[in-house]
Amino acid sequence: MKKIILKYKLLFSIVFMLKILIGIIFVSVSICLQRIVDAAVSGNSQQFYRTILWAIGYFVIVGLMDYLNRTIEAYYMTKTLCHFKKKIFKGLFRQDYTSFYKENTSVYLSSLTNDIHLMDKNYINPALGIVMDLVIIVGSTGVLIWFNIWIALAMILTSTIILFIPKVFGNRLASTRARYSEGLSELTKKLKDMFLGYEVVKSYHMDDQIIEEFQECNKEVEKRNYTAIEATSRTNALASYLSIMTQLVAIGLGGYFVIKGNLTIGTLFAIVQLGVNLGEPITMIIEKITMIKSMQIVKDRLLAFIDIEDVDENRFIELKEFKSSIQVEDVTFGYEEGYDILKSVSLQFEKNKKYAIVGASGSGKSTLLKLLLDEYIPRSGHITIDGQQLQEVLKSSLYQQLAIIHQNVYLFDKSLKENITLGKCFQESEIEEAMQKSAINEFLNKRTYGEDETLGEDGNKLSGGQRQRVAIARALIQRKPILLLDEYTSSLDSKVAYAIEDTILNLQDVTVVSVTHKLMDSLLKRYDRIIVMEDGRVVEQGGFQELLEKRQVFYKLYHAEHQMKNTGEDDTDAVS
Ligand SMILES: Nc1ncnc2c1ncn2[C@@H]1O[C@H](COP(=O)(O)OP(=O)(O)O)[C@@H](O)[C@H]1O
Ligand SMILES: [Mg+2]
Repeated sequence: MKKIILKYKLLFSIVFMLKILIGIIFVSVSICLQRIVDAAVSGNSQQFYRTILWAIGYFVIVGLMDYLNRTIEAYYMTKTLCHFKKKIFKGLFRQDYTSFYKENTSVYLSSLTNDIHLMDKNYINPALGIVMDLVIIVGSTGVLIWFNIWIALAMILTSTIILFIPKVFGNRLASTRARYSEGLSELTKKLKDMFLGYEVVKSYHMDDQIIEEFQECNKEVEKRNYTAIEATSRTNALASYLSIMTQLVAIGLGGYFVIKGNLTIGTLFAIVQLGVNLGEPITMIIEKITMIKSMQIVKDRLLAFIDIEDVDENRFIELKEFKSSIQVEDVTFGYEEGYDILKSVSLQFEKNKKYAIVGASGSGKSTLLKLLLDEYIPRSGHITIDGQQLQEVLKSSLYQQLAIIHQNVYLFDKSLKENITLGKCFQESEIEEAMQKSAINEFLNKRTYGEDETLGEDGNKLSGGQRQRVAIARALIQRKPILLLDEYTSSLDSKVAYAIEDTILNLQDVTVVSVTHKLMDSLLKRYDRIIVMEDGRVVEQGGFQELLEKRQVFYKLYHAEHQMKNTGEDDTDAVS
């Protein structure tokens, strides 16, 4: 946390110095007061007016300093929070796919919005405030000692008791605050789910049910917030109570010494002022320390995001170029312990050849692609690329070699062009070519999307087929040597699907691994090898004709699909 707070050292030092200065000025109010009252009591009007003039000048400076302190502090806070958020965000994107999805993404959203706000209000801000409080406490105690050692001692004693409060209540406060932060995170998760499912909610009349669900979560969060506030209020009230005691002690003892003739009226005034001076920062310091302590768990959670290890941390092999092949050797894998999805899979993908993977839904085809992408690590067996273990190759260099078109396309709420180029620089002609090959131009004839027109949340302005074409253009424009395709034409009508697959099969210098359920013989014939999967195993592989002649799994799949087509049951081609 120190690193975050001290990122902008100069600004921090200015704020720090201003706080000290204001603290000192604040303490000297009491001396000012003593001079004015003593001048008034002595009847020396000249001295009285002079002191008043000094006091006015003094207050002008105080106002100015206060203004400077507030504006510079606000500037410092803006920059620091911006930096803090960036560090967390960077950390989240440093991790690999598996660890990222261990948490619901709402947890990240909530951390970057709610928790950061809590940190601002209850950690950084109070931490800065403590500087001034400390100066006031130390300064006021010093002046008190100078005025009267006995009063000073009595006040130090009562103040010390107050300082123990955060030690006693700190842990309970931290847990109430953490529960509040978890509640906020849960609420964000619910909200995200409800908004994303808006269409389902409306069309299935789930409104009442969803409102009730929201209200339940909403109430729970507010209850937790109340518990946190209530716990803090109790300690703060105790601190206030004790600080009033401190002031009473000061006034009581001060009065006693005035009666005894050991103290001037001016000094009594000053002591009363110092009592107030001391009481307030002591209460405030307690409040602030309690706040800071209460943020311990939330702070640790946020810092853990910053400390996330880079995925490339323990990888040292840079894959400059894809030269020969990808080998999958006896790979077994499952998402959950004791439940295997892929079982002893062995395959070879040679450079520039075209592979089709077919098999029933749930047979593990997408999972195999995820392993080739190094999103998951095999439970046993190895995957190597050009003889190098996939887990040792720098991910950044691996992704230079491959592009994927996922089954579920994700589009950003950005323009069509930005969704294709993904922020990288391409020439107009390259963009045009990618749009041509992915048949985007075809739908642009009907309706154009301007340079600045965004495609809506997850591209909701486009149809399923159009979205898929954007994903195809996005992969093609990258010109990567390996293309992994996961049922990438599933939402396209047969004519467009055929044209696009034809383009892809014609790419000379590209290795293609394509999961497909469209078993069109004219296309399947052009694949170098068809891999047939069943229940997590590779059960057959070979050329189209060879597999048909075997009259086993592929033969049955092929005929089942064609039979369905002939009876008109297959409607997957209808959407575009
Ligand atoms: N992230 C996941 N966590 C747990 N199980 C999963 C996950 N993804 C897929 N599965 C399971 O793995 C099996 C194979 O899925 P998948 O590889 O997507 O099949 P296919 O692409 O052949 O239809 C399915 O039973 C599915 O439920
Ligand atoms: Mg799949």
